Amino acid sequence: MSYPFQIKSEAAYHQAYQQSVAHPEQFWEAIAQTFQWQKKWDQVLEWNFKEPRISWFKGGQLNITENCLDRHLAEDANSLAMIFEPNDVTTPAQQFTYQELFDKVNQFAWVLHNNGVKKGDRVCLYMGMIPALAIATLACARIGAIHSVIFGGFSAQSIADRLQDAQAAFIITCDGAHRGNKTIDLKNVIDDALVQCPFVQRVIVYMHTQTPISMKKDRDVWWEDEVQKVIAAQQTFFPAVAMDAEDPLFILYTSGSTGKPKGVVHTVGGYMVYATYTFVNVFQYQKGDVHFCTADIGWITGHSYIVYGPLCAGATTLLFEGIPTWPNAGRFWDIVDKHRVANLYTAPTAIRSLMGFGLAPLEGKELHSLKVLGTVGEPINEEAWHWYDEHIGKKQCPIVDTWWQTETGGILISNMAGITPAKPAYATLPLPGIQPVLVDEKGTILEGNAISGNLCIQFPWPGMLRTTYGDHERCRTNYFATYDNLYFTGDGCYRDEQGNYRITGRVDDVLNVSGHRIGTAEVENAINSHTGVVESAVVGYPHDIKGQGIYAFVIIDSLHGDAQLTQLDIAQTVARVIGAIAKPDKIQFVHGLPKTRSGKIMRRILRKIAEGALDQLGDTSTLLDPSVIASIVDGKL
Ligand code: WTA
Repeated sequence: MSYPFQIKSEAAYHQAYQQSVAHPEQFWEAIAQTFQWQKKWDQVLEWNFKEPRISWFKGGQLNITENCLDRHLAEDANSLAMIFEPNDVTTPAQQFTYQELFDKVNQFAWVLHNNGVKKGDRVCLYMGMIPALAIATLACARIGAIHSVIFGGFSAQSIADRLQDAQAAFIITCDGAHRGNKTIDLKNVIDDALVQCPFVQRVIVYMHTQTPISMKKDRDVWWEDEVQKVIAAQQTFFPAVAMDAEDPLFILYTSGSTGKPKGVVHTVGGYMVYATYTFVNVFQYQKGDVHFCTADIGWITGHSYIVYGPLCAGATTLLFEGIPTWPNAGRFWDIVDKHRVANLYTAPTAIRSLMGFGLAPLEGKELHSLKVLGTVGEPINEEAWHWYDEHIGKKQCPIVDTWWQTETGGILISNMAGITPAKPAYATLPLPGIQPVLVDEKGTILEGNAISGNLCIQFPWPGMLRTTYGDHERCRTNYFATYDNLYFTGDGCYRDEQGNYRITGRVDDVLNVSGHRIGTAEVENAINSHTGVVESAVVGYPHDIKGQGIYAFVIIDSLHGDAQLTQLDIAQTVARVIGAIAKPDKIQFVHGLPKTRSGKIMRRILRKIAEGALDQLGDTSTLLDPSVIASIVDGKL
């Protein structure tokens, strides 16, 4: 497969960028035409950011799986679509050609159909990182069901919240998942969640870990049994359901600064075009290269750069079940050598954690196959960037620092491997079609370079979110109401003299812990649900490996005196309510919190205390009771 839209030189990038700004509709139309559509669109773009209403390729009809699978069969049926590297090093890897993946997806589309799943139904996927997850994702897309993948680290309560929000009546899960030396009992977690979700009609369970589980009569069925029925009935090809370009493809829940996580909705046509375009250009993908994205399919990175982008491009995508440090910290490098990986796309937190093991785990690893390195999820510090460059890329592999979000569907700001220059700790330049602006607090657009501001995007791109599930107003207020006619990212940003962008981190109450987005309000609500807690405030602080750690200041009821026990209880409560990823790293009991006279907690001050920057507390005179500061600082020491 060749990519007519692949940019091959720096001059071509600038030319494409100019064209994408001057004539965005023509620009995206030419790219969209290279995909397989069942019916052509009537209008390329219709938009306003007020409501917001955004539609790309309106009137067009397609099925994304015909682009991921069917269209490759003529020439690439025997090319490798997916390589699976299991958690356990002694378990053989698996490979799927495009033909094999096509067959499996069709088969499972029949399973879904036979179990009553229809176009538009919401299907929740709570599975480990195994081929069945990718197959189930694509099978949903093939029959037009809306998938909602939930990361395996979320708790039963988090799952129940998401199932209720989406009214998802179907679940696909596993008995369990392997992660390093642990087994996660996924089906048991689902059973706990379903106590609160009587509307769930069917749970399809893939057997993976042979963990003992309960199977509820008339509700739970085994994946393999259902597949056997499909084989017996000779159900093979499943005609891909025609979807409108603007029909939803998936919901992915993500944290914001307030309330519960929101269901970000992406639609079929624009998302497909954008994920594929950015995959091919940022990584400069060449046919036959093995692309290894280490993210989990439970996050947007896995959706766009393990499943949809690579498969639409006819690429070979590598799925890894395990973790970078098990059975030892050389695991990634073994995988690179074993499968001749060309592109390695990972997160700064993983790089920092591997750096911590020194160079011994790299001994005897060749890493000759590597061509491109990538990072995503949080700002990368220069030290980690240089370590990645020297010890992994051997200074031969461009590093792409890709900035984007769940809401953006694909990468918005990044250098293109070997085409546009990298700059350590900078995402660098916007991709074609992306018009970033920096604004001050009042929303005034800041012109010129060498300037900092809040990062917004002033023109739509095909991969952007369309709504938040079941609550369009929330989408408007979260992203389109802070500044007039701009999409607000929630990130702070610096633009250097040459126009390169450097993301400096969130400017709202969202934490980024090991690349995972966590809302401070969510963690506070979880802590406050503990019986001994009166009130709490959660802030982030710099953490060597995680990027940010979670620091909780908690006022406890004087009746609950055993502080040691209560700290563990609080951590456990957060793990129960949200999941282990949101457990605070530090919990400090305090007698009071710094509040303004109107009762608002001054997090700015708490952040400085958590960081240990006690000389930068700033003006504390507006506090209701300035003496609480001294007491918190004393308690910390
Ligand atoms: C942060 C992940 C700096 C940012 C794809 C953003 C980054 C949030 C980068 C989105 C990067 C992501 N440099 N910061 N290269 N990539 N971020 O929704 O704060 O899980 O708003 O999407 O991660 O996280 P999300």
